[in-house]
Amino acid sequence: MSRAAVLCGLGGSLPERIVSNEELAEQLDTSDRWIRTRTGIGQRHVVAPGQSTSDLAVAAGAQALASARATAGRADDGVDPVDPVDLVVLATSTPDRPCPATAPDVAHRLGLGHVPSFDVSAVCTGFVYALATAASMITAGIAGRALVIGADTFSTILDPADRTTRAIFGDGAGAVVLRAGDSGEPGALLGFDLGSDGSGADLITVRAGGSRQRSVPGPAAEGEEFFTMDGRPVFTRAVLDMSRSSQSLLERVGWSAAEVDKVVAHQANIRILNAVGEQLGLEEKQIVANLDRVGNTVAASIPLALRDAVAGGELQPGHRVLLTGFGGGLTWGSAALVWPELETGRPHR
Ligand code: UT7
Repeated sequence: MSRAAVLCGLGGSLPERIVSNEELAEQLDTSDRWIRTRTGIGQRHVVAPGQSTSDLAVAAGAQALASARATAGRADDGVDPVDPVDLVVLATSTPDRPCPATAPDVAHRLGLGHVPSFDVSAVCTGFVYALATAASMITAGIAGRALVIGADTFSTILDPADRTTRAIFGDGAGAVVLRAGDSGEPGALLGFDLGSDGSGADLITVRAGGSRQRSVPGPAAEGEEFFTMDGRPVFTRAVLDMSRSSQSLLERVGWSAAEVDKVVAHQANIRILNAVGEQLGLEEKQIVANLDRVGNTVAASIPLALRDAVAGGELQPGHRVLLTGFGGGLTWGSAALVWPELETGRPHR
């Protein structure tokens, strides 16, 4: 047994407005049939004018903190339910502003005091990277209790005329609380596998708005402020890298794929989830999918899928869980844990 970061709270938040496939088909040359068969997505949530990533992050964070308090109160595990959070890590690639980071504002609005807080930018792998960062700071003794949030509002950076990206992405936030504990406890993060390949940086990108473009006098070229994705190579790499990363973590943790109860992978496309399942030799019941209801919510995708799987009774205490993500950078990452007993309350939408 050794000091470990233990997951002890879970929350999520989605903006109220739902955009159905049918509504998209009224604006763009697409159809419910194409979107469902090519991606598995039926609808997505989008922010209202003036609503930002931090608004969703605060709502998800508050829910995760309430879940941690309720879990500690019930578990009688000797953990003080009022132990304060002393670290906030926010994974996002759609911060409220390019500078400063969004996490300090989120920590302030949650009333967490002067805790260290910062953003992590790894696009759809952001949540796994943020989880690894916070868990490492807990095991190193730098933090005792961390709030880890994945939040994105990709609807704010999409080209309104791009039928492919608008069909896929949705807005949302998901959050977990980690506390210092023991590696033998349910909820302990048992290991991570992380990687990147910058040779694929152009495959998922927003070309304008950074120093490369802004060091050139004058405005950005038309359309360069929008998010772009080269779907086909990204699809291939997503399958390959999530499968390889999962396999290498499973070897390290000592689990076979058959011993994993639930794989919660980044919700990009149902065909990607199925292909990863095939690569790993998984059965359908091992794969968690909620993308039909929320689309690809980027850094929020994995914690929102966890929240929905718990709410639906699909994910149970004692289950062996593998998290795996892939995204821009290119980046990928996986984490493993045994699912703990959690009080989660009602999902917020
Ligand atoms: O979250 C980070 C990681 N992201 C991902 O993992 C996404 C990975 N990529 C994908 O999920 C898929 O590549 C997409 C869903 C983005 C696209 O699906 P695809 O089956 O790879 O389609 P494609 O890009 O090869 O396009 C096939 C056709 C094209 O038409 P033509 O050129 O064959 O006439 C597209 O223009 O489908 C067309 N198309 C659409 N048609 C109707 C693309 N988007 C749409 C649409 N509605 N929304």
